[in-house]
Amino acid sequence: MAKENIQGVRKDYGIGELVESNILENPIDQFELWFKDAAKTEGSEVNACVLSTLDENNYPEGRVVLLKFYADDGFTFYTNYQSNKAKQLASHPYASMTFYWKTKERQVRVKGKIEKVPAEISDAYFQERPEGSRIGAWASPQSQVIPNREFLEQRVKQIREKFPTDIPRPDFWGGYLLIPVEVEFWQGRSSRLHDRIVYSWNQDHWVSKRLAP
Ligand SMILES: Cc1cc2nc3c(=O)[nH]c(=O)nc-3n(C[C@H](O)[C@H](O)[C@H](O)COP(=O)(O)O)c2cc1C
Repeated sequence: MAKENIQGVRKDYGIGELVESNILENPIDQFELWFKDAAKTEGSEVNACVLSTLDENNYPEGRVVLLKFYADDGFTFYTNYQSNKAKQLASHPYASMTFYWKTKERQVRVKGKIEKVPAEISDAYFQERPEGSRIGAWASPQSQVIPNREFLEQRVKQIREKFPTDIPRPDFWGGYLLIPVEVEFWQGRSSRLHDRIVYSWNQDHWVSKRLAP
């Protein structure tokens, strides 16, 4: 049976522009500018991005994660170190993050090498998380097959009994740092003539170039 025809679903962009005379020298500064700008209109999940990795058969795999920190050395997210993504990153420590800020008609792509963040940084962040999230991190064998929902609820009960007061960070949970080698900024423009500026790390400095849309 034919599905709904969605060929006509499209939009023309036109609320902004990205010009060489206006961009910052360092892409992390440019990211900060756009991130803060998007935060005003995008709502609570402005930090959501698609993290792409490569699986053991070279299939790319994307999933949404939340960016928790960014600085000159890179972009940090947190996850389960035994999850599928973690296994993929262990054998191929390269990834990309893709942000889409609909309200600003903007996309940012960051590509680079992955490292685990130091344990003490993961510890500090873990303790900042709400109690339910801390328990959830312990309870969920992320990416593994589980028999049913009750399995998770049972695990939550057991974890609550095991840690009635302080909940330490599990050693199978923590952060990864994406160390950028390339950062691309995309601003939607009219008639598909979008602006794209890509920064590449060249030994000791960033070089920016315009790409055709
Ligand atoms: C809005 C949103 C935010 C998410 N944030 C995270 C996150 O920060 N860390 C994480 O491990 N999974 C997060 N997830 C779940 C992942 O998309 C994914 O289901 C999970 O990490 C398992 O992925 P994997 O099996 O490829 O390892 C989020 C999902 C959504 C929709």
